[in-house]
Amino acid sequence: MTADFVYWLFTGMGWLAGLVFLLLGVMFVRDLTQTHSSVRRNFPLVGRMRYFLEGQGEFFRQYFFAHDRQELPFNRATRSWVYRKAKGLPGTIGFGSTNDLREPGSIIFVNSPYAILESDLHCAPALVIGPQCCHPFVVQHIVNISGMSFGALSSRAVEALSIGAAEAGVWLNTGEGGLSPYHLKGGCSLIFQIGTAKFGVRDAQGQLDEVRLRELAELPQVRAFELKLSQGAKPGKGGILPGSKVTAEIVAIRGIPEGEDAISPNRHQEISNPDELLDVIERVRRITGKPVGMKTVIGSEIYPQQLVAAILRRGAVSAPDFITLDGGEGGSGAAPQALADHVGLSLSESLPLLVDVLYQAGSAGADSDHRLGQAGDLRPGRLGALCRCRFCRQCAGVSILTGLHPVAAVSSE
Ligand SMILES: Cc1cc2nc3c(=O)[nH]c(=O)nc-3n(C[C@H](O)[C@H](O)[C@H](O)COP(=O)(O)O)c2cc1C
Repeated sequence: MTADFVYWLFTGMGWLAGLVFLLLGVMFVRDLTQTHSSVRRNFPLVGRMRYFLEGQGEFFRQYFFAHDRQELPFNRATRSWVYRKAKGLPGTIGFGSTNDLREPGSIIFVNSPYAILESDLHCAPALVIGPQCCHPFVVQHIVNISGMSFGALSSRAVEALSIGAAEAGVWLNTGEGGLSPYHLKGGCSLIFQIGTAKFGVRDAQGQLDEVRLRELAELPQVRAFELKLSQGAKPGKGGILPGSKVTAEIVAIRGIPEGEDAISPNRHQEISNPDELLDVIERVRRITGKPVGMKTVIGSEIYPQQLVAAILRRGAVSAPDFITLDGGEGGSGAAPQALADHVGLSLSESLPLLVDVLYQAGSAGADSDHRLGQAGDLRPGRLGALCRCRFCRQCAGVSILTGLHPVAAVSSE
């Protein structure tokens, strides 16, 4: 090592150290003089560590500290099981379950002492939704894909769900963002959701466009319609897709002006009571000739009781063909945290409550043949409710579970 080299090495390091100190000095002064963050103002430079560590904490907790069964909505054990099945690997485990079966609300299926032989297996009977409609919808499976709109999901995610749904023979709900070409890609059965902004079936004033509705109903893939009243993650709140994300493609699909925020109102303008709800359901059914259901989250038994009272008064023909019940804990592309955390009953409470109201109505003379759907996932505490429900819907996981298109449903909203 020559003396020159040592000289330049130390000089370089000196400059570097000087630059670092200068940078830290600038950051120190900026922290001290800025007025946005009290942490940085009171603890210049050091305060910045807080944000850095908080950001990293999420990853450290997930990889090092969270137990296999700890996280929500899906814990590591469940995720690993899904990943394995999606790759066609066996779902078997060695030794005992790490699931704490003693936990109150833990899901336990009641086994039969005389298990069914493989040779005696037969498919569950088909369920006919809207048998009185011109075009009833015959469903074969109890697990289907709940609504997640194009816009909230990327085109690739919607396409993967469509192809996965077709291969699994289940239906896919479009969500409230209208019908995109990606929904049609796989050729699966679709339920078209009519959200509060009526994206995809609205006229220039945001009212229901009967011509567009009829055109959609003519598509054989669209098997039924669902009127969305509310969603578990944000009951009583519409949504907003910022103008920057309202691309030409979204404009064409949703029927809205380009570049402007796409706002969903908090409710359908023309629905403010059970009778108006049943009016709209009857109207959509008359125009489309296909089954029409509704999606809601509930906060107490009062609202379903009022709905049932209106159906009893008007006659069973006015009833929705199916009801999709979302739990207050349900997911969303974007929801205000206060609503997601605190508004609307969880599915484990609301499903038995709604089923009870419908059963009572059945004994009081209403059409007891309601098709009741659940828009959430099976989590501990929901079994009791599920046992009495006719079919259930499972979002996001279905294409993964088929193992054919393991593309996660990625939110781009
Ligand atoms: C990304 C994303 C987008 C969604 N978009 C809609 C939608 O357009 N319409 C709707 O009724 N529900 C929507 N949902 C809610 C789901 O349909 C479903 O009700 C909810 O995710 C079920 O709860 P879970 O997340 O506990 O399974 C969305 C959920 C997610 C995760």
